[in-house]
Amino acid sequence: MKTIRLILTPLLLLLSFSLSFSIQAAEPDSGFDHFTTGFPLIGKHEFADCSSCHLFGQFKGTPLECTLCHNGSRAAGKHPQHVISSNFCDDCHTVYTWSGARYDHADVQGACLNCHNNSIAIGKSASHIASTDICEDCHNTITFTRVARVDHSAVFGTCESCHNGVIATGKPADHINTIASCDYCHNTNTWLGATFDHSAVSGACSSCHNDVIATGKPSDHLITTEECGFCHTTISWLPAITP
Ligand code: HEC
Ligand code: HEC
Ligand code: HEC
Ligand code: HEC
Ligand code: HEC
Ligand code: HEC
Ligand code: HEC
Ligand code: HEC
Ligand code: HEC
Repeated sequence: MKTIRLILTPLLLLLSFSLSFSIQAAEPDSGFDHFTTGFPLIGKHEFADCSSCHLFGQFKGTPLECTLCHNGSRAAGKHPQHVISSNFCDDCHTVYTWSGARYDHADVQGACLNCHNNSIAIGKSASHIASTDICEDCHNTITFTRVARVDHSAVFGTCESCHNGVIATGKPADHINTIASCDYCHNTNTWLGATFDHSAVSGACSSCHNDVIATGKPSDHLITTEECGFCHTTISWLPAITP
């Protein structure tokens, strides 16, 4: 933060240089170029009375740090419901406005829920997936609308309650025919490499064993129109039971 401040100061000075025309216009009778003080009167400060900062006609030693003035006595400070924050007002605010603050989480300590509870700051919506309140298991401070990875140790409900193609990924249209719970064959790390159990599937053997969904007859297979189950078990293709 401090390095950023040091880098920003010359930038602000440059900026204020180009603004110095309007600044001078705003203080026509003083004739004093406030730019020379190292505290340019930009943003809302441009319109503040000299005496609101220079109390009792004192100029030297006027505080430079936001919080030394914006403490609720010298000038407007944080209201009682203000989000928990450090006192470096300019980490989040500019001299142009207090509203629409950019929220810098670098200063922030404590659980996300302390603030992200829909009262101090945005929290879970009614349609949020059933999860614990340990937001940090799934979210970072950049955005709420995209999670890098869902931590399944922080969710509630059966796989199907979410994995229905609406709330979260569901079975693709060409998925094998089954009504069993997803975790019968899948784990929460990946959908690929499912462990397959025939007791959880339904439909004729050939509805899956057609070389599209699952292994089909090899090209040199004996010619037959019977269902696979007529000669094979689900344990192994070999040995075939020839009736
Ligand atoms: C938003 C607050 C603010 C306002 C408004 C403001 N000043 Fe200042 N002024 C400061 C700060 C901060 C300093 C820097 C004090 C320091 O470095 O010791 C300063 C420094 C000065 C100094 C130099 C003091 C010194 O000897 O080092 C003068 C002169 C001065 N201001 C005049 C004015 C006049 C005239 C006005 C009205 C047109 C005005 N200021 C409005 C904040 C303000
Ligand atoms: C020397 C005292 C002083 C310092 C330092 C100071 N301000 Fe101010 N500021 C004032 C005064 C006085 C006003 C006008 C009266 C008020 O809003 O309380 C003001 C007004 C403002 C306003 C406009 C408030 C409104 O009503 O819209 C903002 C925003 C603001 N300051 C931000 C800052 C930030 C950010 C910093 C630090 C970078 C800072 N100020 C540093 C004295 C100061
Ligand atoms: C970590 C970030 C952060 C810090 C540091 C911070 N604020 Fe804020 N402040 C906010 C947020 C976020 C809001 C709400 C902004 C909004 O509603 O658009 C806010 C709102 C305000 C408001 C009310 C704005 C309005 O119009 O409702 C004031 C006044 C204010 N802050 C003053 C301060 C002062 C003074 C300091 C330094 C002593 C400070 N803030 C430090 C983030 C911060
Ligand atoms: C001290 C209070 C506080 C804490 C703790 C906190 N935040 Fe925030 N956060 C805020 C405020 C205030 C905002 C800006 C206002 C808002 O969006 O409601 C914000 C904004 C955000 C945003 C941007 C929201 C958007 O869409 O614009 C995300 C993402 C976020 N926080 C995530 C987190 C995460 C993750 C944690 C925990 C690691 C966390 N925050 C901890 C107060 C906090
Ligand atoms: C188990 C993981 C998980 C946890 C824990 C979690 N979230 Fe989420 N959150 C999500 C997912 C998934 C989305 C949807 C975005 C996506 O699909 O990438 C989401 C979306 C959001 C959104 C934006 C959309 C909406 O529904 O409003 C907000 C805001 C949000 N979460 C806040 C929170 C907060 C606050 C907490 C902690 C109190 C929290 N989340 C805990 C997984 C989680
Ligand atoms: C509360 C809702 C919820 C529950 C319950 C849930 N999940 Fe998830 N799961 C999600 C969300 C959200 C995602 C990420 C977005 C997506 O894939 O649609 C996800 C992602 C996944 C992924 C993809 C992982 C990756 O990174 O590629 C797998 C696999 C998964 N879940 C399996 C399961 C299994 C198995 C169960 C039951 C044991 C389960 N899930 C329970 C919400 C849930
Ligand atoms: C009886 C076992 C079984 C059950 C139950 C099951 N699946 Fe599958 N699933 C599979 C098999 C086998 C594959 C193919 C895996 C492969 O290609 O590695 C698969 C593939 C998938 C894929 C595609 C993976 C990819 O990227 O190609 C998704 C997505 C998927 N299943 C989601 C689900 C969901 C959601 C549920 C629960 C609603 C579910 N599955 C239930 C066996 C099952
Ligand atoms: C809903 C789809 C589906 C149905 C119905 C189905 N299977 Fe399967 N079967 C699979 C999948 C998926 C695999 C694993 C992937 C593969 O081998 O292609 C599999 C694997 C097999 C295997 C190989 C076992 C091993 O470990 O080597 C045999 C043998 C088999 N099935 C026989 C049958 C027979 C016999 C029937 C009917 C009684 C049947 N299957 C019904 C989807 C199905
Ligand atoms: C009328 C009986 C019969 C039916 C019906 C039948 N098969 Fe076979 N299948 C056999 C015989 C016999 C063999 C050769 C066994 C051997 O080489 O010992 C065989 C071999 C196979 C093999 C090769 C096994 C290996 O590893 O060499 C596969 C795969 C296979 N069948 C799949 C299927 C599928 C899929 C179906 C249904 C679409 C099916 N079969 C229907 C009798 C049958």
